[in-house]
Amino acid sequence: MTITYHRSALKSLIFSIVLAFSSLSSFAQEIPTDAGAVSAGKQLFDTNCKTCHRVDQRLIGPPLAGVEERAPSVQWIIDFVRNSSAVIASGDEYANNLFNQYNKVQMTAFSSFKSEDVLNILAYVKSEAEKPKEATPTDGPQTPGQPTSGAPEYLDLILIGMVVILALLVVILLFLISAIKRFLDTRELTEEQKEIVHSPITFGTITRSRGFIFIVAFVVAALGFKAVINALFSVGVQKGYAPEQPIAFSHKIHAGQYEIDCQYCHTGASKGKNATIPSVNICMNCHNQIKTGTLTGDAEIGKIIRAYEQNKPIEWVRVHNLPDLAYFNHSQHVAVGNVDCETCHGPIREMDVVRQHSLLTMGWCIDCHRTTQVNAQGNAYYDKLLEVHEGSGKKGMTVEDIGGLECAKCHY
Ligand code: HEC
Ligand code: HEC
Ligand code: HEC
Ligand code: HEC
Ligand code: HEC
Ligand code: HEC
Repeated sequence: MTITYHRSALKSLIFSIVLAFSSLSSFAQEIPTDAGAVSAGKQLFDTNCKTCHRVDQRLIGPPLAGVEERAPSVQWIIDFVRNSSAVIASGDEYANNLFNQYNKVQMTAFSSFKSEDVLNILAYVKSEAEKPKEATPTDGPQTPGQPTSGAPEYLDLILIGMVVILALLVVILLFLISAIKRFLDTRELTEEQKEIVHSPITFGTITRSRGFIFIVAFVVAALGFKAVINALFSVGVQKGYAPEQPIAFSHKIHAGQYEIDCQYCHTGASKGKNATIPSVNICMNCHNQIKTGTLTGDAEIGKIIRAYEQNKPIEWVRVHNLPDLAYFNHSQHVAVGNVDCETCHGPIREMDVVRQHSLLTMGWCIDCHRTTQVNAQGNAYYDKLLEVHEGSGKKGMTVEDIGGLECAKCHY
């Protein structure tokens, strides 16, 4: 009697376990593959995960490609994303190993995420990981910090062309000389004449000849001319200025390769006059974890850590500098005018060393103010102005039209 009781209890236990498993598997999460899910996932990934994760690269967290295969289950991933510290605290072995491996960096909890949100992110990650690798421009040959000052390249080409022509002339002359000598040898010549024809070509006879003196004078004059032109091209203009910095900080790596937002570091750009250079603390947000570089090794990052520990600011050399008489305000352009950083600063994302891209002269400011339409969308103040303005028969409204050419706007 007791035995049968136990049997049925066992049976019902097994039954309920099987039931639990089958219900689990019927709820098992499928990663969607449709385009809608992928694009929703991209949006979520870019705004929430990208600061720490990449699909194919280790950043602060692991690369997410293939995570659905290495993690215990898709449900585990959902739980981990919603509250990773709870999963770690539960003693889960996989989570604890990972946590230790990533220097015990706590991942942000996304408790408001629904399962569907996480599945969409996984859909995006999967579609990215399966994309064939395209060659990125950073794979190409590197041309770091090329200064753009100095004479244009065609002057070099002209100089090279001249040298080639001169060399050709020399060869032709040598031919002529030997031909003439052979011709003279067939003639009846006096001793004196023979001596002249067969006088040996020595260093002395060459350097004393008029042709040689002419050539030397010509080359010296050409080089001098080029130097003067070079100097004239860079008088007073700082364009291309790219000073060496105390730490080999690369925008190409940070803003290019890792796509860190400009304003993550230059926090002032949309708030005030100065874009501001980041303090050591901002560097340390990442570099207390990332201690080795692929290009310059640990030495450069060591400098950041030392500056941080000694509480000393890094003495960056200023690249852009307007004279005191002019007033320039970043937020006016970035936040109000909606002008991209790159419009004025050029391809910063490709620069290992920052260089001044634009002229920064008064003419440069004015040219842009004459031609750029004010971004009046959704600005009630501008709507009225625009109405009045277009009433006067012109289409659109440039910065000039709102007073962007008035001396006092740019001069104290
Ligand atoms: C503040 C940085 C940070 C953010 C933001 C972040 N993560 Fe993480 N993530 C980590 C770290 C660090 C780990 C490694 C485990 C640990 O240390 O807790 C991790 C681990 C993971 C893992 C496990 C990876 C594996 O190899 O098993 C998944 C999945 C994951 N994150 C997904 C996400 C998703 C999805 C988002 C965005 C919604 C996100 N993370 C946002 C830092 C972050
Ligand atoms: C990880 C932090 C970081 C990010 C992201 C970053 N910068 Fe910088 N930036 C710096 C540091 C540090 C300097 C000073 C050292 C130097 O000139 O290289 C600097 C210098 C500059 C300068 C020159 C300042 C001067 O001295 O005149 C410009 C312009 C600039 N950044 C623009 C940008 C733009 C545009 C982006 C986005 C595409 C960007 N930065 C992204 C850290 C950053
Ligand atoms: C959001 C994260 C983040 C911030 C903030 C950050 N870095 Fe980095 N930094 C990285 C990553 C990622 C690498 C690449 C490491 C590698 O190449 O393996 C890196 C690499 C470097 C390197 C080595 C480059 C090489 O490959 O040799 C230097 C030097 C460096 N950073 C300086 C700085 C300085 C200075 C700051 C502050 C102005 C800063 N970083 C802020 C993420 C960051
Ligand atoms: C309309 C042109 C313009 C735009 C757009 C612009 N800048 Fe600048 N930037 C300048 C000029 C001009 C200077 C020199 C200012 C000075 O010397 O007073 C400068 C200087 C800087 C400096 C160094 C000095 C400082 O202000 O702290 C940094 C860093 C910088 N810009 C970053 C940025 C970033 C990041 C963006 C985009 C968010 C941006 N700039 C957008 C024109 C521009
Ligand atoms: C790439 C184009 C561009 C360049 C270059 C540029 N600006 Fe501007 N600027 C704008 C735009 C767009 C606005 C309009 C912002 C708005 O909607 O109010 C503006 C507005 C201004 C204003 C406010 C004008 C007003 O009436 O409110 C000042 C001052 C100004 N710029 C100064 C400068 C100075 C100084 C320089 C050169 C160092 C410069 N700008 C270079 C595009 C530019
Ligand atoms: C959109 C901004 C802007 C406006 C408007 C503007 N300026 Fe300038 N001005 C500048 C800048 C920037 C410089 C510094 C240029 C440099 O260093 O090459 C400058 C330089 C000057 C200089 C010094 C000489 C020089 O070339 O270095 C004088 C003088 C001057 N401006 C007069 C004026 C007068 C007069 C007006 C009104 C008709 C005016 N500016 C309007 C931006 C402006």
